[in-house]
Amino acid sequence: ISLALTTAALAFTATTASANCDSGERVVKFSHVTGGTTHPKVVAANNFAERVNEEMNGKLCIEVFPNSTLFGDSKELEALLLGDVQLLAPSLSKFGSYTPKYGVFDLPFIFQDMDHAIRFTQTAEGKDLLTEMDDYAGFVGLGYWMSGMKYFSANKPLMVPSDAEGLKFRVQTSDVAKQMIAAMDASPQAMAFSEVYGALQTGVVDGQENTWSNIYTKKFYEVQDSITETNHQLLAYLFMTSSEFLSSLSDEDRAQFIAIADAVTQEANESVKAKEAANRENILKAGGTINTLSPEQRAEWVETMKPVWKQFESDIGKDLIDAAAGA
Ligand code: LMR
Repeated sequence: ISLALTTAALAFTATTASANCDSGERVVKFSHVTGGTTHPKVVAANNFAERVNEEMNGKLCIEVFPNSTLFGDSKELEALLLGDVQLLAPSLSKFGSYTPKYGVFDLPFIFQDMDHAIRFTQTAEGKDLLTEMDDYAGFVGLGYWMSGMKYFSANKPLMVPSDAEGLKFRVQTSDVAKQMIAAMDASPQAMAFSEVYGALQTGVVDGQENTWSNIYTKKFYEVQDSITETNHQLLAYLFMTSSEFLSSLSDEDRAQFIAIADAVTQEANESVKAKEAANRENILKAGGTINTLSPEQRAEWVETMKPVWKQFESDIGKDLIDAAAGA
């Protein structure tokens, strides 16, 4: 009973935490799963909240709940549909049960770097994907927030794909990621982000793949032998709301809200590379080990993972894959 009471009390505290909202202001909840102070998503979410709270003062009041404190990975999209939260920024790898098309962002080595990914999001195909789920799920993308390229870490050094053989890797709920791990003769285990540190620490999984910012702010480097600079995949977010929330705003408020979202998105993407570089340094300063690959080693990773593209060609669409690869 006491546990239930504590949980209920915590939930109550979390949902009523106030960002100094005035009476008469409409409270808008923004839930996400990342933490720390140097993470690009943490900074962008806080910037958005600050700007709306200042520029739309008296109308809207955004409260940000980081670190899975309000909703974690498995519940946040459902919570948006139920109206329990109005803003999210989940990884594009977490939409598999709503659309296979976002799998394009997960294809290994499809983007050379974040600039390439940003170019794709600015094409007609990339922009269309923002509202891909509006009609049937009521999800509306406000913008893409880049997070970083991804790197593998494990309880042993990984220099070539065969080093990963037989290991178990935590992945996000992405079919592309699962097939990519299978291509390395390793096993994927989908798991919520909030559970990864514990799973690495207790050996439930042997490794994971993530950005410098997530590896640093979640301290994964503490419970892994080393991280390998594979650059194999992109991590990016859909900064999103529901069509129900957007259409509930007056035309004037909606235009102002979207203009702030656009400005914050642009600023977030302009500063993300510097944030990632700083968190890479932070990992090294904190005692983490980073392995870099020779061109030959890197070519082995590319070769091992490239066949995954074909497996998803019909689900994602060849035109979309070509548009992303050629952006
Ligand atoms: C993950 O689950 O590894 C990431 O998507 C977490 C995040 O939001 O950066």
